[in-house]
Amino acid sequence: MSAKILSGTETAKAIRQELAQEVAELKAKHNVVPGLVTILVGEDPASQSYVTAKNKTAKELGIYSEQISLPATTNEADLLALVNKCNQDPKINGILVQLPLPKHINEARVLYTIDPNKDVDGFHPVNVGKMMLGEQCFLPCTPHGILELLTRGGVNTKGAEVVVVGRSNIVGKPIANLMLQKRPAGDATVTICHTRTKDMAAHTRRADIIIAAVGVPKLITADMVKEGVAVIDVGVNRIGMTESGKAILAGDVDFEAVKEKASCITPVPGGVGPMTITMLMKNTVQSAKMAAGLI
Ligand code: GUN
Repeated sequence: MSAKILSGTETAKAIRQELAQEVAELKAKHNVVPGLVTILVGEDPASQSYVTAKNKTAKELGIYSEQISLPATTNEADLLALVNKCNQDPKINGILVQLPLPKHINEARVLYTIDPNKDVDGFHPVNVGKMMLGEQCFLPCTPHGILELLTRGGVNTKGAEVVVVGRSNIVGKPIANLMLQKRPAGDATVTICHTRTKDMAAHTRRADIIIAAVGVPKLITADMVKEGVAVIDVGVNRIGMTESGKAILAGDVDFEAVKEKASCITPVPGGVGPMTITMLMKNTVQSAKMAAGLI
């Protein structure tokens, strides 16, 4: 049996329609326009395309957006000064510094300088701590998008065996934590696998839900999953180039083979990616409402 495709493109479209309406109402009723700034340092092509997509989506939803691109040689003090300026700017509700940053810049110092009330990425330790405690905060966008996909896709997580492959601060650690909480798309029994895991397949084979977020193309093969598993593929790996110069992408899951055993699966592209961007917009709208005293 071939799996149901959990389309991030379609789910994101539905959420964006809701958000566009909310943004229009905020403007009409309260004269509030949410504002987002993205800051990109350097010329990494993947980062450039992510940042461009984020600003394009913001504009489509009626969110004010600024895209600041700085050379790779930018020094840390100048970047911190820019972040501080954005912290003070009342037009800006969300600040996103695209990662990774060049090696000579201390990433943590930059992220910790962002006002936690404008940290729409959910990377500041204040928001990470609140997330762990299950308090109101900005949830990190990719895990937040996964929760929405699972909920709206009708995947039952209560008591489910979830295996997260990958332990990054952006995806693996937060999604594992969120799914063990008492919340929608939560109440799961969670295992995290990583590079030092002794027998990864032994874990993935007993999973009801697999979240793959390692950045290794097609790591999860059909023999590593059980019949009926739900699969969320977070990987976006560039495995080649078309003749016209377009990147060929593959996820962390061998999609063609695994979809024959899974009950549902996200594609790459068109799975988690559009959800991540949409959750950034949701967080920016939430931030604007908080700044205006509406929540
Ligand atoms: N680089 C890869 N994913 C992300 C993300 O979600 N936010 C930021 N700021 N940088 C990233």
